Amino acid sequence: MIIRARSSPVNYRVVAILVSLLLPAQAIGCTNGNRASDQPLVTTTTQSTQATTTTTTSPPNCDDASICTTRQLADAAGVTFGTAVAAAHLDETDYRTTLLTTFNSVTPENELKWASVHPAPNTWNFGPADKIIDFAKTNNLQVKGHNLIWDQEFVDSTPDWVLAIDDPTQLRSAATDHIRTVMRHYRGAVDRWDVVNEPLQTLGADLYDNHFRQVLGDSYIAEMFAIAHDADPTARLFLNEATVELLPDKAAALVALVKDLVDQGAPIDGVGIQAHLVAGTIDAVAVRRLIDDLEGLGVEVAITELDVPTFTGADPLATQADTYSQALGVCLDANCREVTLWGFTDRYTWIDAMFGPGRAPLPFDRYYRPKPALTAIRERLSATAE
Ligand code: XIL
Repeated sequence: MIIRARSSPVNYRVVAILVSLLLPAQAIGCTNGNRASDQPLVTTTTQSTQATTTTTTSPPNCDDASICTTRQLADAAGVTFGTAVAAAHLDETDYRTTLLTTFNSVTPENELKWASVHPAPNTWNFGPADKIIDFAKTNNLQVKGHNLIWDQEFVDSTPDWVLAIDDPTQLRSAATDHIRTVMRHYRGAVDRWDVVNEPLQTLGADLYDNHFRQVLGDSYIAEMFAIAHDADPTARLFLNEATVELLPDKAAALVALVKDLVDQGAPIDGVGIQAHLVAGTIDAVAVRRLIDDLEGLGVEVAITELDVPTFTGADPLATQADTYSQALGVCLDANCREVTLWGFTDRYTWIDAMFGPGRAPLPFDRYYRPKPALTAIRERLSATAE
């Protein structure tokens, strides 16, 4: 029996602790105010007991970029511009309106993680994710599925009942049932999936020695891609990884891992670079090299969880805007076709649990007012459309 200590996800990212020790604290952000619109729009909202429907009418003519919604700029650029969303917030009018005028894609933040959607054997909890996916269908948003397999110490993504299976045949069978059932439930509605999330050590360059690796061996990654491809051959399948923007050895390990998968013929379509950055610290040259190396293997590359907490600097919001600009710029210049943010309003961000409140990592403030980061994002999308 393999026994694992589990702890709160809040504590899990060692790198967060390192970053917070390295950088002096400086609280920023707005403390009051009213909502200001991102762009001109007309919104009609109706609530029903079945579902919440929001219809947003954007300016019909979007030749002048200054009056286009950010979503229109993304559409015109052919860019999938997404955000993590939480089902619990979809009932909030400002949340919905800002989401619909800014993004053309959503990723459920937690609702599709194994422990959430399949908490016990033969127990399925599709309700919260269904709410997001129904909302996406109604409003013509793409959906990325996040994620099918993710096990790390201090992360509560894989439920304890799965961690208790130490027989390879039984674990393979549980993973097959999980992946098939979830992917087939959303077939046609979710066009791409993170099949394996964070297979590498958080701060190292080896495979994370997680439960799946311990029981199934290193080949678990290729196996999970094969199971996912069999479950829904129409879905694009991604491997998603963290901190490769920061750590050159880990970036090289990611390229080697993906090369190995491609060489084996594993059905991998893309690689997600999470990009949980810190304002003022992006090394765009290194990120470009990583994207080029991955694209050279024949897979697509996306930024999948971008957020930019602020810590230092005379003008933290300007520094943050510059980091957003560089992140989008390096990806879009290298022909990435997706940039997804890990949320959009400082009102709801996992960074508060990681670093404490006040890091204001997202392009709208707590009151849905656009920040300089949004202007930077809009400029990058406009430039890509030209
Ligand atoms: C985070 C969520 O934002 C939190 O609400 C949750 O408590 C923990 O997980 N990398 C990932 C995401 O791939 O799934 C994580 O999301 C953030 C880091």
